[in-house]
Amino acid sequence: MSLNSYTIVFLFFVLCSRSAAYDALDPNGNITIKWDVISWTPDGYVAVVTMNNFQMYRPIVSPGWTLGWTWAKNEVIWAMMGAQATDQGDCSKFRGNIPHSCEKKPAIVDLLPNTPYNQQIANCCKGGVIASMGKDSSAALSAFQIAVGAAGTTNRTVKLPKNFTFVAPGGGYTCGPAKIIRPTRFITPDGRRITQAMSKSFKPYIEMTWRVVCTYSQFIASPKPTCCVSLSSFHNASVTPCPSCSCGCRKSSNCVMKGVNKPVLQCTKHMCPVNVHWHVKSNYNKYWNVKMTITNFNYRFNYTHWTLVVQHPNLNKATKVSSFVYKPLMPNLSTNDTALFYGRKAYNDVLMQAGPKGNVHSDLTLEKDRKTLALKKGWAFPRRVYFNGNPCVMPSPESCPYLPNSAGAK
Ligand SMILES: *[C@@H]1O[C@H](CO)[C@@H](O)[C@H](O)[C@H]1NC(C)=O
Ligand SMILES: *[C@@H]1O[C@H](CO)[C@@H](O)[C@H](O)[C@H]1NC(C)=O
Ligand SMILES: *[C@@H]1O[C@H](CO)[C@@H](O)[C@H](O)[C@H]1NC(C)=O
Ligand SMILES: *[C@@H]1O[C@H](CO)[C@@H](O)[C@H](O)[C@H]1NC(C)=O
Ligand SMILES: *[C@@H]1O[C@H](CO)[C@@H](O)[C@H](O)[C@H]1NC(C)=O
Ligand SMILES: *[C@@H]1O[C@H](CO)[C@@H](O)[C@H](O)[C@H]1NC(C)=O
Ligand SMILES: *[C@@H]1O[C@H](CO)[C@@H](O)[C@H](O)[C@H]1NC(C)=O
Repeated sequence: MSLNSYTIVFLFFVLCSRSAAYDALDPNGNITIKWDVISWTPDGYVAVVTMNNFQMYRPIVSPGWTLGWTWAKNEVIWAMMGAQATDQGDCSKFRGNIPHSCEKKPAIVDLLPNTPYNQQIANCCKGGVIASMGKDSSAALSAFQIAVGAAGTTNRTVKLPKNFTFVAPGGGYTCGPAKIIRPTRFITPDGRRITQAMSKSFKPYIEMTWRVVCTYSQFIASPKPTCCVSLSSFHNASVTPCPSCSCGCRKSSNCVMKGVNKPVLQCTKHMCPVNVHWHVKSNYNKYWNVKMTITNFNYRFNYTHWTLVVQHPNLNKATKVSSFVYKPLMPNLSTNDTALFYGRKAYNDVLMQAGPKGNVHSDLTLEKDRKTLALKKGWAFPRRVYFNGNPCVMPSPESCPYLPNSAGAK
């Protein structure tokens, strides 16, 4: 690579990573990891570690998160509840009582939902899956308890772990340093339930708290898209497909025609794991209707807690939404044009693997808004679509099916 092209690539990286790290639709989105030290032990402490997903529409999908850090001293993990270290490491120094893990850089994973109750704590054991904040704030967290040895035994001698890593399928997270904050929460005496409320019946048991903030960058995750949009309209039989090779090009090795052996994608021209189809169903004087369909092309992969974000100038007047839950994403801004959709619990909040059940859909009724209505070509189609927080590849505006000029003008 010549020096010049290297410089260009470097500049591209700097410019893109800047803009990609900041998501205008979710400016405060982050994952906040909090360690609440709830008691001191003869050689260390017991902490409840809570990971809050403050991202409005990006869930942590199966097979879930892996949390890592580097111990500042030679700490060990005596025991854990609600999660486990993937490696025990070298515990040969210990006789009799053997720690759960002696790794200098432990990697922690969640337990599965069928974990025995005596190994669980509140908000643990979801197989590492975390909902997004906008979808379900009560499921947007994951927690475990950890007993740390060979650590400090007061808030002056404890050294904070360093170099936190939060790894999720698709990657993209970078964590800042741990910082001591004032304990803000209270815990019930049995240590099993943390409550945000300042109630007299709960004693403040938290001895010390520190926090780590991890942020997502699309550019670090993968420059390759994972979703594409196709369009159609009632008045024109032709469907505008996803652009070919939206997410990669079809090769004999990367997809299968039917659910055969390896967990791979169904063969398509776009090679995206997910397609969002936007169909304009009808158009009346005051209202128009859209059917949105999300299709999963993964064999053997279900999207739990999926989310869909759509930007369209008329989404400020969505009057009816069937089968999905709908929330305006920034309801108080003048640009109230972005909607968050997700499935209803136990009905369609899991987007099933490819096959006859591998899709979810919803009918929208939008009331025409004189301020935003402009019958340009492509007006009826969304401007931006995100699936699980990842931007979907859109067809080029020129390829949109025409809306008849008269429609809606009356
Ligand atoms: C992380 O998200 C929380 C909740 O939205 C917000 O209060 C906090 O300021 C964010 N932190 C950073 C560093 O962005
Ligand atoms: C340690 O705890 C004591 C008593 O709870 C408190 O007064 C002090 O400010 C704490 N020190 C630090 C460094 O957090
Ligand atoms: C932090 O962890 C990363 C990945 O494991 C590693 O490359 C880096 O050198 C570490 N930094 C420090 C200061 O330990
Ligand atoms: C997806 O969900 C269906 C229905 O619950 C289940 O039969 C299937 O095994 C799941 N697939 C995976 C890969 O977990
Ligand atoms: C934003 O859109 C929602 C959904 O249509 C609507 O309920 C809300 O009133 C709108 N807010 C403003 C400020 O227009
Ligand atoms: C938006 O405005 C409504 C009513 O004015 C208010 O209740 C709500 O808290 C506001 N939301 C945000 C996020 O500012
Ligand atoms: C339907 O849309 C296609 C693609 O945009 C266009 O070429 C065609 O002329 C349209 N047909 C009618 C009847 O409008």
